Order: sequence, then structure tokens, then C-alpha cells
Amino acid sequence: MGIGANWISAGKLEALQQEGAKVIRGGIAVFYHEEQVYAVDNRCPHLGFPLHMGSLCDGILTCHWHHARFDVCSGGTLDPWADDVPSHDVRVDDGEVWVNPVSRSTGGANKYKLKLKEGLEQNIGIVIAKAVVGLIEAGVPAQHIARIGIEFGTTYGTGWNAGLTILTAMAGSVGKLDKNGTILALYQGLVHVARGSSGRGTRHLLSALPSADVPFERLTEWYRDCIEVRDTQGAEKVLLTAIAKGVGTKQLSDMMLTAATDHFYLDGGHTFDFHSKAIEALEWAEESQKERVLTSLVPMMARPTRSEELHQWQAPLNLVEPIAQAVHALAQHAERAKLAGGAASVPLTADREAQVLEQLLSDTPLQTIALLRDLLVAGTAPARLAQLVALAAAERIVRFHTQNDFGDWVAVLHTFTYAHAVHERLLQSDEPLLQRAIFHGAVAVYLDRFLNVPSAARPKPSAVSSPFDHQELLDMLDLRQQVGPAAQWVTDYMHGGGEPGALLNTLGHALLREDAEFHSFQMYEAAVAEYDRWQAAEGAFAEKARETMLLACARYLAAHAPTARELPHTAKIAWRLHKGERLFEEE
Ligand code: FES
Repeated sequence: MGIGANWISAGKLEALQQEGAKVIRGGIAVFYHEEQVYAVDNRCPHLGFPLHMGSLCDGILTCHWHHARFDVCSGGTLDPWADDVPSHDVRVDDGEVWVNPVSRSTGGANKYKLKLKEGLEQNIGIVIAKAVVGLIEAGVPAQHIARIGIEFGTTYGTGWNAGLTILTAMAGSVGKLDKNGTILALYQGLVHVARGSSGRGTRHLLSALPSADVPFERLTEWYRDCIEVRDTQGAEKVLLTAIAKGVGTKQLSDMMLTAATDHFYLDGGHTFDFHSKAIEALEWAEESQKERVLTSLVPMMARPTRSEELHQWQAPLNLVEPIAQAVHALAQHAERAKLAGGAASVPLTADREAQVLEQLLSDTPLQTIALLRDLLVAGTAPARLAQLVALAAAERIVRFHTQNDFGDWVAVLHTFTYAHAVHERLLQSDEPLLQRAIFHGAVAVYLDRFLNVPSAARPKPSAVSSPFDHQELLDMLDLRQQVGPAAQWVTDYMHGGGEPGALLNTLGHALLREDAEFHSFQMYEAAVAEYDRWQAAEGAFAEKARETMLLACARYLAAHAPTARELPHTAKIAWRLHKGERLFEEE
């Protein structure tokens, strides 16, 4: 290869021989070593330290910051946590050194996909971050990037986990985020997948039954029976048989969710929530990933807590029996309605919805159970009732008093994310047995009632109006104990004509700039999704519901901020390295 017109002169070879190393235009470090000339990006791919300040010995360039080692010729690293450094072609012509400013290591999206897999396998944040930045910059859609994490997380480890849930929640939220937010969302999700699955063994799947001739109804029975006795191997074989039979995702979801609601509020709502997220991931995962995704849900059915066995569901008031009776009454009604040729859905008025919300937040759970039963019998859409339960659960978060034990934030959060998952699934399914989950969610809302005693006051709008500086909200969350001020800011924003889309993006950044834990990701995704659902409705009740979602989200995030922000710092460095920014003034 000859010297191109765009090549950069690195000066006289003789001078380079004397200096040993120098930095030229474009931030390229040029070395003279063992009678050869080499050129690499001067920014260490680990965290950006200038490599010309490193040492070069026996062909190995060592960065002095964290001692990453690179083959100075190819730029390849001996330390996977640091990543390869881009290397450049050099030529010496008539005693002058010339460097190609375009590095050898371009390679496009495929290179970054491989890097991402490597980052997941090794659980290395900076490698994952750089791969995500590279893929987004190469125009790869966010959900295609997330697929790589889904593949990895459902192949290694023991099954669907918090990391996969975070990744799916974040992949579903990128529509609300700017480019920076999208990168952070995917990166955080993928890092959590790596943490959950890296270094774990391969999850080998069992085989389907030899014949798929069994009717699906029979397979559903078998699946539920296996789950009932916590036989996860039997359940997996039945599930694989249904998949091999070509049963569609919707029917498979119904089968699995029915089994997940045969008992009450499994594992504090996580079981249903994880199922919902996995099913959501299938909307954008590849068809070939279906087996891995769905079977990854089975292991968690081995020993979930069945809430009907818990004391608080049985005493001082037995809430188990009334739910069982209500479900029985609904089944009888469904049978009658079927004979009569089906029943039409009857919408609720806004006033009636307000009454239902009040009842859900009341101290009288038996009336709540009866009301839900009656409304379902009267033809109210199950998904609408689930939406109201999710609203009541969000109201609990809005009214959660900071005098409560800090750990109790999670209790109200669990109910909300569970209720949200039930809402989302009922929008997709007309399986009558899933209506049981509405009752379970409603009782969970009731059981959280003491966390609203005393009740935090809902902020009243002050006389502030746009323009709003979003940085103000973020600055506020640099400090602890900002639950009240953050809620006030959001209230003023909404009442002062602030643009909701911009607020959703800012709340996303408030989440993603932290080392957030699992529940904060759940909070953001559920609040944003429920906010969107209420967008479809008009009137004062829907408007207040939307505000409830934003307030719940802001309060929860404020309660959990700030953190050390180590994880997003890594992503920021990756982004700056990718953009070619200098990270250190000494350079
Ligand atoms: S090893 Fe070079 S910056 Fe860390």
C-alpha cells in the first residue's frame, strides 16, 4: 500500500529514533521500537490514558494507568478488560514517517457484535459499553442489540433473571429516550445480563416428547399439573412439545401465565412480572430464540412463595377464600355467557372509575373483591380493571411517606410492577383464568395500606410555568432526601405547560446516570408504559392518572439517588473514546 493523500507526516525518522515516541495530529501515538515504526490511537482503550506515556518492551506496549498490555503492531490486547487499541499503517519514505489517519480496525457492526458477545462472556463493562456505542453509531436498531443479550442470558445461567428483565424493560423504553439515553439504557441492561449469566454453565434444554400429536388443551393441563407439583423438568418437556407442535406465542403465554396464576401473587409478584417481560422480549427477539426464552421461565417455578400460604393473606381477615369464591362465580358466569353466545364489553364512566379507585385504596378488601367480581360479571374489560389496580398501586407510591422504613419502598414498588404486568398481559389475552391476577393485585394494594399511614400529601401546583430547566430536576437529585422537592418540581412542570415527552427523557436520565438497582429500572418502565396507556383516555381522571405515574416515578427515583454512578461513568468514557475526544489534558 502506498502513501495516500490524506496520510499524516510524523516527521523525520531520525528524530523519532531519538524520541522513541511522539503524538501527532489526530491523537495518534507513533513509536520507534526494535528498528520499526508503529502507530496506535494514543488513548488507551481502557479509560483513555495517553499511551505515548506508557512503556514499550519486546513488542508489548504497556499503559501505565492500569497496566493493560497491547501488541504494538496489531493493537491487540493481552488484557480483555481493556479492549484492543486501533492501530494505523505507517510508511517511511525518503527518511520521513507517514501515518494513515484511518485505523486498520474499522470492521463495522459485525465487529461490534462480536465485541458485545465478548464483553458479555467476560463481564467487562467498558467492552460492552464500547460495543453498544459502536452498534448504535452503525445504525443497528436498539432491539437488535438487545437480542444479543437475550441470547446470552437465556443460554447461560439458571434461567430468566433480573438482568434479562432490566434489559427487556430498557429495550422497551428507548422510544422515550434520546440517543445518549438509549446507549445508557442498553448498556445498563446488558451489564446486568452479564452479571447474571457470565461465568455460568450452559443451560441445556431437555427434548420435546417424541410425538407432538397431543392436543394443546391436554398439554396445558399437563403443564399446569407439573407446575403444581413443582416438577420443572416435566413442565419444560411439555412446553418444548407445545413449541415443537407450532403453537403460537399467544397460546403459549396463556398456558404459562395460567400456571403462574394458579397460586396467588407468586414470589411477591416477581414470577408474573418476569413472565410478562420474557413474553414482551419475544415481540422483538428472533423466532429461533423462542425455546430458550420461554424455557428460561420454568426453573423459577420450582419453589416460588405462594402468597395464599402467607399469614397476612389469611389473617386477621381471610382474603384467600373470598377470592376463590369470586373466581368460581366468574367461571360459572363465563359458562352461562358462553351458552348465551358471549357478552359485550361495557365501558366504565370516569366517575365510576374514580369510585373503583377509591374502593381499591380503601380498608375494606372484601368489598373490593366483590366489586371487581361484579364489574367483571357486568362486562367491564378485565384489562381496564387491571389498569385501575395499577393506578391504585401507583397512588400508594405517591402517598408513601418518607417516615416509613426505607426498605418498604420495595413493597409498594412490587405491587405496582406486578399490577402493571397484569395490565399488559390482559391487553393481549382474553384467557379468563388470568383475571385471577386482578384480584391478587388488588389484595396486594390493600395489604400495602399501612405504608400510606401517615399519607404523604400530593403536591399542589405552585404558580410556576414554562420554560423549565430540566437540569434543575437532575441537580436536585444530586442530593439525598429530595423525594418531596422532586415531586413538587414534576407537579409544577405538568401544571405549568411542560412537555411530557421531555420529562420522560429526563426521568430516564435520572435513572440511567445512577448505579441503579433492579427495582428502579422496573419503576421507570412500568410508570412510562402506564403513562402511555392513560394517554389514550381523555378527561380529568385520565389526566390525574398520568400525573400519578410521573409522580410515582419521580418520587421512587429521588428516594434512591444519588449513587456512586460508576456504571454510567464507564459508558460516558466509551462514548467519548468513540467520538475521538481527548480524555486527558496532558495528552
Ligand atoms: S489501562 Fe490504560 S487507562 Fe486503564
